[in-house]
Parts: sequence; C-alpha cells; structure tokens
Amino acid sequence: MRDKAENSEKKVFLETFGCQMNDNDSERLLGFLSGMNYVPTGEPQGADLIIINTCSIRDKAEQKVYSTLGRFRAMKDENPGLIIGVAGCVAQQAGEKLLKRAPYLDMVVGTNNVHRIESLIDEVSRRKTRVVATEMNPAIDAGEYSERYLNSGPRAFVSIMRGCDNFCSYCIVPFTRGREVSRTSSEIIDEVRRLADMGVREVTLIGQNVNSYRDPEKGGEWAGGAGGAEGVGFTGLLRGVAAVEGIERVRFITSHPKDISGELIGLFKDEPKLCRHMHLPVQSGSDAVLKRMGRGYTRQAYLEKVYQLKELYPDMAVTTDVIVGFPGETKADFRLTMDLVEAVRYDGIFSFKYSPRPGTRAAGFDGQVPDEVKSDRLSVLQEAQKGIAAERNTSLLGKTLEVLVEGGSRLDATELTGRSPCNRVVNFPAPAAEGLAAGMLAYVGITAAFTNSLRGIYKERSESCSWR
Ligand code: 5AD
Ligand code: SF4
Repeated sequence: MRDKAENSEKKVFLETFGCQMNDNDSERLLGFLSGMNYVPTGEPQGADLIIINTCSIRDKAEQKVYSTLGRFRAMKDENPGLIIGVAGCVAQQAGEKLLKRAPYLDMVVGTNNVHRIESLIDEVSRRKTRVVATEMNPAIDAGEYSERYLNSGPRAFVSIMRGCDNFCSYCIVPFTRGREVSRTSSEIIDEVRRLADMGVREVTLIGQNVNSYRDPEKGGEWAGGAGGAEGVGFTGLLRGVAAVEGIERVRFITSHPKDISGELIGLFKDEPKLCRHMHLPVQSGSDAVLKRMGRGYTRQAYLEKVYQLKELYPDMAVTTDVIVGFPGETKADFRLTMDLVEAVRYDGIFSFKYSPRPGTRAAGFDGQVPDEVKSDRLSVLQEAQKGIAAERNTSLLGKTLEVLVEGGSRLDATELTGRSPCNRVVNFPAPAAEGLAAGMLAYVGITAAFTNSLRGIYKERSESCSWR
C-alpha cells in the first residue's frame, strides 16, 4: 500500500537527446511514470524527479551528460528528496561509472530497462539505494511497450523492433541497444489501434533496420534470405498497420539500403496510405569507404535502387545520412560522395562529421581525418545540399499537396502547419470558416518554396487517404 504522500501528484522533468528511438523511450518512461502519479513539467526547478535520456551516437556524449547533470546538483542540495536519473545510450554504456563520477545521481536506466522504471524508483526512494539497470534482454517482455505518454499530436512513432545486428564499423548502436529483436505484430497493431483511438492519424514505424523486421509469433526463428513469407516480414506488418481504421498515413524509418526488398518497393503502388518517402542512409559515395564502414552495398548497387524508386514513383522523396571524414577518406573519396549527392538530388540530407566511438572498429582505424578537414567537407556538402533542397522544393510550386494538419504555426498564430506525404513542412493561412484542426487533412496549393519548408493556400478538405 502506498502512503498518502506517495499518492499526491509529483513532477518529472525529462530531457531527451538523440533519435526517434530515444523520443519513443521518453514517451514510454512518461507513460509508466504517469501510472505513479508523475506529471511532466517543462522546468527542472521544483521537480521531484529529473531524468536525462541520453544519446551517444556522436560527440563527447559522456562529458555532455556530466555537464548537464552538474546543472541539477544544486537542486539536489536544496531538495534531498529529488531523484535524478540517467537513461538512454550513455546510461547503457557507462553504467556504474556514471554513479561513481556523479555522486548525486541516483539511477542509471539502460536501454532495455525502461519498463522497470517504477521498481527502480521504488528502490531509490524506499531503500535509499542507488541503482544501475543495464542488463540486456535478448527478448521483448510482455508489457515492455504497454505504456506511453503521447505528446506528438496527430503523428506518432511506433517502435517495431530494438537493437541492430549490422555492426557498421563506426556505429555504437549495436553496443548500446543490443541485438536485433522484433515486437509481435499483434502487439504493434494493438498499439496503433489505441493511438488511432486517441486521435493519431499518421504513424511512423521505427527501428534501426526495419527491413529485417520478423514477427516472432509468425515464423519465430527467421533464418535469413530475402523478403520473408507474407505476414511474417516488414511488408506484412505495413499492410496490417495501414488497415487500422483511423490511420491515414504510414511511414517508416530506417531502411538499410542493402535490405530493401522488391516487395517493399512494390507496396508503394498498392498501399495508398504508405507515404512516398524513403530515408536511405548512404553514408558515403566511395566504394573504398563503404567497404571499411561495413555497409554491405556498393555505390552502384545503392544508386540502382534509388533510381528504380524514383523512376517508379516520380513523387517519391528520398532523404539520406552522410558521414564525412571517415578514417582514410581521401579528397577523391569525398569527391565521389559529392558526385553521388549531386546525381541523386536528395530531398534532404542529415550530414555528420565522423566521430570515433569507443569500442567500435573504426575508432582504431589508421588515417583518422583532422577536424578542420572534416569541417570543410561538411560545409561543402551542406552548401551544395542547400541549393539542391531549394531546387527540389521549388519543383513543387503550383502543385497541390495533401497536408496533415498538426496545429498552429510556431511563427504566426494565424497560420496552420502540417506535413505533406513527402514529409515536407507546409504552412498556410488558416481558412476562417473551415474549422480546420490538428488531425484533419487538407489540400494545399503550393505558392512559395524555402530551404526547409513550403507555403501555400488552402484549397479543400481531404476526407481520406486520396492524396494521389
Ligand atoms: N560518427 C558520425 N556519424 C555517425 N552516425 C552514426 N555513427 C556515427 C559516428 N560514429 C550517423 C550515421 C547514421 C546516423 C543516425 O548517425 O549517418 O545513419
Ligand atoms: Fe548503426 Fe549500421 Fe545499425 Fe544503422 S545499420 S544502427 S549505422 S550499425
């Protein structure tokens, strides 16, 4: 039995760094915490619980955690009842070390232990102990994904798997998130149904490599090979999710270019709810670099897939991730990346300077590239991409796009904002008489194009998924 004080409302301040996986883990943390009477607050001052959900994919991740934690130290001095925790990839990697370095830290919550938050807090508050939960779980337990606090309006991310088995030589993810394991499709579809009931209209299925999704209930020990039987693999899951009533749009990230199946490419034709956008991280345009990265495809094989997609679906948006300054990357290698970027004409690029990650193979490679060279290459790439993105956006002038309204625009209260199927942000003046609100679909005629967004005028409501 909890006593009265424990039943009263408490405040949690949760700061999230990193990718959609971390955003999703934060929503799950808040979901479990709301069952313990915690409500989220935007301010650390006055909070009863502070959690930093950390990312270690690049940069000085651990140092950043210590400096962030440092900000909360004085609050703990003032309020000894305050519980401070670190979650996410740095928690998973540094574990016990975090407790040693930060004496005011109470709790380290690893990436496979989000669902244990209630018992961890119990241990801290009742037994006055400090806890580390970094055990890896090779399966997904019942209830691990049962709770979530939704704060993303009509769009939501749904985690379909966790971990990664690819071990690209630069990447920390297989170490921080463990081996690849899929959730069952029945659990995922139940979650999507619940989201639809809560007003969600667009779901993005997330995983490090969604193409290797395999339903553990239908085919269990899937042993490799292309595609997978109907209903067992990723395309079967996409169909199931698209069939949920109330869901108008389905997206997914991230596809590993080596694993996209013909079946998935074909699904864009057959499934109108599947948004025509593919995020296909290329990382480099040089075969020599791709090989050292361990990406499992060549420049040629990658380009063939992208061209096939663009040819079949001229309205397909293609985005990518690029790493510059990977160990041993020569001027000529970088030139090949630039050539590829100029040839593909991506709708968007996330570009990064290579950052050596402790414990990964590439951190020990010869030929580490000086930071100034990385910075120069990054700015050359970003400058070129700015022009390409503007050109791609300009090509949409005069077209009509269907927009899923997310709410009022941040910059101008008289405007609405939302996204097109190709994932572009579209702002448009709110039509007074239409009563358009978040979650509704509207056709918008595009009248202006910028680097990161489009502007347009409202044409008419769209009742269903008929954006083609
Ligand atoms: N250094 C720089 N970028 C990295 N990424 C992953 N690991 C590193 C690293 N060590 C980038 C890749 C990946 C994206 C999520 O982050 O481009 O696709
Ligand atoms: Fe990291 Fe490669 Fe796995 Fe992506 S596919 S998470 S880059 S190891």
